[in-house]
Amino acid sequence: MAFERNFERDSEPDMDSLRAQNYEDVPLIKMLKAGEKSSAKKIGVLTSGGDAPGMNAALRAVARVGINSGLEVYGIRRGYHGLAKGEISQLGTRDVAETIHKGGTILMTARSEEFRTTPGQIRGALMAEVYDLDAIVVIGGDGSFRGARCLARLGVPVIGIPGTIDNDISCTEYTIGYDTAMNTAVEAIDKIRDTASSHERCSVIEVMGRNAGYIAYNVGVATGAEVILVPEVPYDIEKDVVKTILEGRNKGKSNYIIVVAEGAGHATEISAQVEKATGIETRPTVLGYIQRGGSPTLRDRTTASVMGMRAVDCILSGKYNRIIVEKGGKITDVDLEEGLAMTKRMPEEHIVEAKRLL
Ligand code: F6P
Repeated sequence: MAFERNFERDSEPDMDSLRAQNYEDVPLIKMLKAGEKSSAKKIGVLTSGGDAPGMNAALRAVARVGINSGLEVYGIRRGYHGLAKGEISQLGTRDVAETIHKGGTILMTARSEEFRTTPGQIRGALMAEVYDLDAIVVIGGDGSFRGARCLARLGVPVIGIPGTIDNDISCTEYTIGYDTAMNTAVEAIDKIRDTASSHERCSVIEVMGRNAGYIAYNVGVATGAEVILVPEVPYDIEKDVVKTILEGRNKGKSNYIIVVAEGAGHATEISAQVEKATGIETRPTVLGYIQRGGSPTLRDRTTASVMGMRAVDCILSGKYNRIIVEKGGKITDVDLEEGLAMTKRMPEEHIVEAKRLL
């Protein structure tokens, strides 16, 4: 891969002098005042947290639009972990060629424990200075944006691009990877329905989403699930699950799908409870990481491309510490601090509404 070959640093940063730095005395990178035109020349880009399909498309857009606008673009490997370690190298337009359709992230990603500590964050900020980066584009989820806020507070200008399958970032209606993950889950559950139907069984399928039920709700509706369990809506196993399955049997159903968000319960436990209470053979399936991989859908490729473009435009116009968001179907940007302070919650009515489809 071209990017692998190009990953030689021009010059090693002086790690000893970095280590000897007094962390209390970090030289802050100068911030632009409102309205001041950007003089950015070098920008960094990293992917952080759980990988999501479409991250490569966003990276490609940042690299291509940045380079084509006269910026030097540096790829930072392994997220904040790589930033603190100086795993940074310049990208050319060809380094991101043939990546738009690829799942995962060619920059690789990490959930950096070190970056959760103040010394780790300061190290990251210092490394941005060592490499003379005028801004860093962070492609990741909520935790990654909190990391970006730490950098911003240390004087490193940042731009966030929402990339997570969970769609759980409050300030945006959409996060890169969400559509692909849901389509992958739908395809898998359709297959599970075939076997549940053949054996006249009940299947309990656990989907990802961390503390949010967006994936579970949409996938449940799209696969005609008899029961959808999400963290946003409390449920009673007897009243909301067992009763619904038995009512379904009385209506003539012979197989059943229960979709449970990982934040709402475990497929194995729910499966055992349902089988015991109904006498219907019940099997659990945890879809797991299959939802994170795979080639991004059109929705994820296009959204990632436009968000990447918008991130570079922010930098070019001197608009720093922003999160690129989708609002009312349009790609725009919000202030990082304000965006992180927002809350969003899947409406309870969604689950009530879904029951009308049974
Ligand atoms: O945020 C994406 C996600 O896949 C969540 O849905 C899930 O809870 C988590 O990441 C799993 O994280 P890890 O990759 O650390 O196992």
